[in-house]
Amino acid sequence: MHLRCDETPQWQRLRALYEAEGRLLDLRQAFAADAQRFAHFSQAAPHVFADCSKNLWDRQTEALLLDMARQCGIESQRDAMLRGETINGTEQRAVLHTLLRRPPGLALPGDLPCVAPDLVQVHATLDAMLAFAETVRADEGITDVVNIGIGGSDLGPHMAVLALEAFRIPGKRFHFVSNIDGHELHAVLRQLRPERTLFLVASKTFTTIETMTNARSALAWFQSQGGQDVSRHFVALTTHVEAARALGITTTFGFWDWVGGRYSLWSAIGLPVAIAVGAEGFRSLLGGAHAMDEHFRTAPLASNLPVRLGLLDVWYRNFHGFNNRCVAPYHAGLRRLPAYLQQLEMESNGKRVDRQGRLLPMSTSPVLWGEPGSNGQHAFFQMLHQGSDVLPLEIVAVRQRAHPLAGHHQMLLANALAQSQALMVGRPSTDGHRHCPGNRPSTFLLLDALTPASLGALIALQEHRVFVSGCLWGINSFDQWGVELGKGLARDLELRLASGDATGLDASTAGLLQRLRG
Ligand code: F6P
Repeated sequence: MHLRCDETPQWQRLRALYEAEGRLLDLRQAFAADAQRFAHFSQAAPHVFADCSKNLWDRQTEALLLDMARQCGIESQRDAMLRGETINGTEQRAVLHTLLRRPPGLALPGDLPCVAPDLVQVHATLDAMLAFAETVRADEGITDVVNIGIGGSDLGPHMAVLALEAFRIPGKRFHFVSNIDGHELHAVLRQLRPERTLFLVASKTFTTIETMTNARSALAWFQSQGGQDVSRHFVALTTHVEAARALGITTTFGFWDWVGGRYSLWSAIGLPVAIAVGAEGFRSLLGGAHAMDEHFRTAPLASNLPVRLGLLDVWYRNFHGFNNRCVAPYHAGLRRLPAYLQQLEMESNGKRVDRQGRLLPMSTSPVLWGEPGSNGQHAFFQMLHQGSDVLPLEIVAVRQRAHPLAGHHQMLLANALAQSQALMVGRPSTDGHRHCPGNRPSTFLLLDALTPASLGALIALQEHRVFVSGCLWGINSFDQWGVELGKGLARDLELRLASGDATGLDASTAGLLQRLRG
């Protein structure tokens, strides 16, 4: 059993260091005192350059955090995940999304014995799925691809299809229907013709009420509009192929229970991405993620980017007490990145007990939120600069543009840089309204270009960083029991909405039920 971060001797030392110095750290003075600060706190990792120097920490803090991570057995916890041990204890599952991006032909290291049979299936399924994606791409009769899925079966593919717009096949439109709200499905269906549409029903469990309801309604619409040949126009992406067949969907691509929903972009759930960018593009996405996996697996902890980011997250959450992190992608293609990261961080680490079920004495997942820059600058950045709370900002910028409007891109990048600079330097004024205190932290992640490979690396970086903080907190980052309660209650309330029976309900729920019945 591994130590939790609060059980290590470094935890107390970090507490003392924070009280004595950490809470007083001034970034402007820190840069003045250390000419190597940028060099030390910035680094390259596969496809991603990171500048962590404008954060409220120093070398001593980082060294203690690294010691704490070693004490928590971060390396052996990482290796246990990569080896396919059953680290998701409450569901008795391995956690092997990294296997999905392991290139074919790459020999398994000797320490990966338990995953070898799965790897054969992984590559066979990938090959079949990519061959299918290519036939859809070549099929000019199909003009619309509709992904029906929610949570991890929506957020990843949706984010990636938008991000890779520059690589997307022309002549096909991509739609994402996730919500049970019929307005969403209806708005998409009315743009479609059945003979030109491919529906992808994406659900790991094939039981999720939103997805099942939307899939049934899409099937009913297809038939009512004279659609022929469900096997050509409906595909299921699921670990429960039999459940899909029971619904009448016979074209299926499977995956495995060791792929968590929010880690499933790399599996058959990625089919919309593969249709959008092609087999080669999808393999590049996997390749970029694999490069980051290798970095995470092999880089020394002190220059291991997911480890450094994960440690910074713990430092901010548990010592500075920052309860949120704002993500501002300075690239329109990354506009769904904050939503994607919300699930990744908050569904993984939004837990209050450790792996043994013991109540945690410290805070865990921050609230993660954000919007693309520069839009956010004209909305909530005011609070980042002058609000009463300090909110760490994570900027994601892309050096090269994929459009001909050069001036725009210069301005966009200048804005990204200006925000991280302004947050740090501030602007002293005797007028309280104008005074910007500065010393506000930001991290700057920079991609050279937004490509399938760099996107894969960026997402794998974020996955591993969440894993690192989860390990330090002693959390099982791979279950999500909290979302079950509301699902069960919704089933009961749906019946009550029909019948009007409010027996046994609290007064508020009963009152609202009556109002909703009209
Ligand atoms: O909301 C919980 C959740 O289980 C997520 O973890 C998951 O990504 C989503 O629902 C969708 O699940 P499925 O792919 O099984 O439909």
